This record gives sequence, C-alpha cells and structure tokens, in this order.
Amino acid sequence: MKKRKLLCVILAAGKGTRMKSSQPKVLHKVAGLPMLTHVIRAAETLSPDQIVAVVGPNMESVSAAAAPHDTVIQTEQLGTGHAARVALAGRDLAETDVLILYGDVPLTPPQALQDLIETHRAQNAAVTILAMCPENPTGYGRLVTNAQGHVMSIVEEVEATESERAIRLCNSGMMALRGEGLMEILANLKNNNAKGEYYLTDVLALSRATGGVCTFVEGHADDLNGVNDRVQLAAAELRLQQKLREAHMRAGVTMIDPLTVYFSVDTVLGQDVVIEPNVFFGPGVQVMNDVKILANCHLEQVIIGQGAHVGPFARIREQTVLGSHVHIGNFVEVKKSNVGTGTAASHLTYLCDLDIGEKVNIGAGAIFSNYDGVSKHRTKIEDRAFIGANATLVSPVTVGADAYIAAGSVITDDVPADKLAFGRARQTVRDHTQKTSGYSNKKKGK
Ligand code: UD1
Ligand code: CA
Repeated sequence: MKKRKLLCVILAAGKGTRMKSSQPKVLHKVAGLPMLTHVIRAAETLSPDQIVAVVGPNMESVSAAAAPHDTVIQTEQLGTGHAARVALAGRDLAETDVLILYGDVPLTPPQALQDLIETHRAQNAAVTILAMCPENPTGYGRLVTNAQGHVMSIVEEVEATESERAIRLCNSGMMALRGEGLMEILANLKNNNAKGEYYLTDVLALSRATGGVCTFVEGHADDLNGVNDRVQLAAAELRLQQKLREAHMRAGVTMIDPLTVYFSVDTVLGQDVVIEPNVFFGPGVQVMNDVKILANCHLEQVIIGQGAHVGPFARIREQTVLGSHVHIGNFVEVKKSNVGTGTAASHLTYLCDLDIGEKVNIGAGAIFSNYDGVSKHRTKIEDRAFIGANATLVSPVTVGADAYIAAGSVITDDVPADKLAFGRARQTVRDHTQKTSGYSNKKKGK
C-alpha cells in the first residue's frame, strides 16, 4: 500500500489578547523557547511532508519563528474551520492526512501525536480527535460519543446543554483529518452559531453524513492545555521544568534542591554533574561530566568542560567555552571567552573577549577592558601566565606564557613570555612626621 502523506497545520493566528502583550502569544517562551517552536519540534518528530503555520496579519515575527516552514496569512480570524481552509487552499490533499495542531499548546507530546496519527490510519477514520479529561473542562468543546466509542459530535461549551456540559471528555483542539474530500467539507461549514465563527469541530457532523468514521485517542490533559494568559504560561513552564529536572536526574545529575534549578529545553548535562540550589540555565548550555555548579549561577550559551567548578554566584554568558577543570568562582562574569584547561578565576573579575591558555591564574578584581567606546577588542593570555589582583588589561594585548603581571597594574602593551610587568606608580615611603605636618599645615591655612 502506498504510504499516505502527512501535512501538519499549526494554528497560530490568534492575537492572544489575554496575554496583555505587544508580542504575539505564540512567541512567548517556555523553558527558553517560543511556544510555537515547541509545537514545531513536536510536529517535526513525525517527519511530515510539510508543516504550515497559520498566522495573523502583521505577524512577520511569527513567520520568522516558523521558518524554514511555510506560513499562510489568515487576514481575518473567522474561526478554526476558516483557519484550516486558508491553510489548505490550493493544495492537493489526495493520499494525505492533515494534522491540526495549536501554536499555543507548548507541551504537545510527540508520543500523543504519534498515537493520534497511528489510530487515525489504523481505523481508516475521517476524523480522529486528540481528546483529554481536564480537571476543569470549562471552555473546552465536549466529545459526544456512542457505544462503539465513535465521536458523534463536538459541542462547544457555549452551545452545550447542561447534560453535555457534564461530559468530561474534551477536545484538545488537535485532530487528524483525511485529506480526500476535506476541502469540500470545509467549504460547507456554516457560522450560524453562538460565536458566529466557522468551527473546525463541525467537520465531524459533515464527515459522518458522508459515511466517515470519527474517533478519538486520549492524551494527558496537563500536556494538552492551551496557554491563554500568563498564569497558564507559568503553569506550562512549571510542568515542563519538572519534566526536565526529572529527566536530568534520571540521566545521572544530582540536584540538591531541584525545584530551584531552571533549564532550557536544549540544556545538555553530562554524568555526575552536581547542581546546587538556585541555578538558571539559559539557552545553549552544554555541561560535561563531573562538573560542579555551586549555588546561584546564571549560565547561557556556554560549554563547560569536564570536572570544572563554577560559582557560587557566577554569571557566564554567550560564546564561552570553559576547558576541563577550570575554576570560575564567586562574582565572576565571563563572556565571549575561551578559557583553557585548569585555569582559575576564583573571585570578583570580568573576563570578556579573551583567549586564555591553560593553568592561567586570574587574581581577584582583575578587569579586562575590552571596549574603547567604539569597538571591542580581544586579548590573549598564554599558558601559565599570572594576572595579579586588581590588574586592568586594556584590550587588545597579549600576555605571553609564564608572564607575571603585578597586582594593580594597568597593562596597555603586550607582555612577552616569562617577563614580569609593572604598570603602576611605585610606592614611596616618607617620614611619618612629614605627613603629620602636612595635615597640620592645611588646618592652619584655613
Ligand atoms: C477550540 C475548539 C474547542 C477546543 C479548544 C481547545 C473549535 C470551534 N473549538 O476552541 O473544541 O476544546 O479549541 O483549546 O475549534 N485560531 C486561528 N484562526 C481563527 C481562530 C482560531 O488561527 O480564526 C487559532 C487560535 O490562535 C488558537 C486556536 O486556533 O491557537 C484555537 O482557537 P480558539 O478561538 O481559542 O478556540 P477555542 O474557542 O478555544
Ligand atoms: Ca483557546
């Protein structure tokens, strides 16, 4: 039998008024990624032939987030059925199943989508609904089923009778539809209902009228909740964070207080990583085995080498690579820097735009002055160099291997290997009485 094609349509045209935001709803982030991206990633696990997002007018930012997948603009929001029609217009749907997804359901589980498509195909159904039994069904369409477990209709809450409202089985909104004949059905949808919208859910009655079977699979309601406001956004974040924490712990990571550690979906952690409380992982963090991250760190776009120690109170920012056994201590900020194996910056320093070799020691209070007000410059520090406390290195400079920079120096020129550089006023020691008379003179003079 010829394999049927799969077309995923992601509905994302809603403005998301209840988010009270200048930004389209589906671009709000959960665990570091826009909600839409979560849904696209779930769709991609099915290896569909095509993914199309339906966006509203003036939503270029949403189209950009959907790229390289296609977007179709729904100029007026006339309902979910209308959105599907706009997405499918002019497409050849022969031998094709259409999967409708929602851009505001960030936790959409790939497995539930897999089950949905498999059941839909196995039962040769016209429509298969991804259903759920949420604790509070308010606002959801209810599934009216018969004794064979077929879905007779979906009744929107505003139109439901009291007995229909008592039904626990709800429409997540996501569904699989047989492509053949679908455009004709969508063209026949009416909007003579409470909301004056073209309901996609009315496809069921029309399909059944032509002999089609409508069925459902049930997913976990907590994963299928849509996000309409920021309270629901936080609930989605909480649930995803809990899943990420559990996955990392099961993979060999120790967290002393997991509830205070926040991950991005793309955080990669090696084995025997230990994470103390209050650590935030922004996007793009990769941590090798045996790394210890002490309390209160903020990390993003960094690769942390095996056995390194970071924190407490460290901030590591974009384009940073820490070699193995590096020590980054308290109140150290690192940005756009490569730090070699065994190098230590144990306290109070800003490492920026640096290429640092191995076993370098950076003293407390050392600052790398990378910005001259117009452009930024890089500095190179070679193996085993010693940067004394409170030194300021004005980039660009190169400090050679085994060179030594005296504490408090301001370094503006290269320091050759093995040399000792001073860049500060020499201490003078004067007579104590001279100092006292200086003070008393001043007093007398007033
Ligand atoms: C819809 C379902 C309901 C289901 C619920 C799940 C219908 C008629 N009802 O109701 O059975 O329980 O979702 O959350 O389908 N959208 C567009 N263009 C439109 C209208 C909507 O892209 O013209 C998008 C929205 O951005 C949103 C999704 O479709 O992501 C759902 O639309 P919404 O109006 O919120 O549907 P509900 O009334 O919640
Ligand atoms: Ca909704």
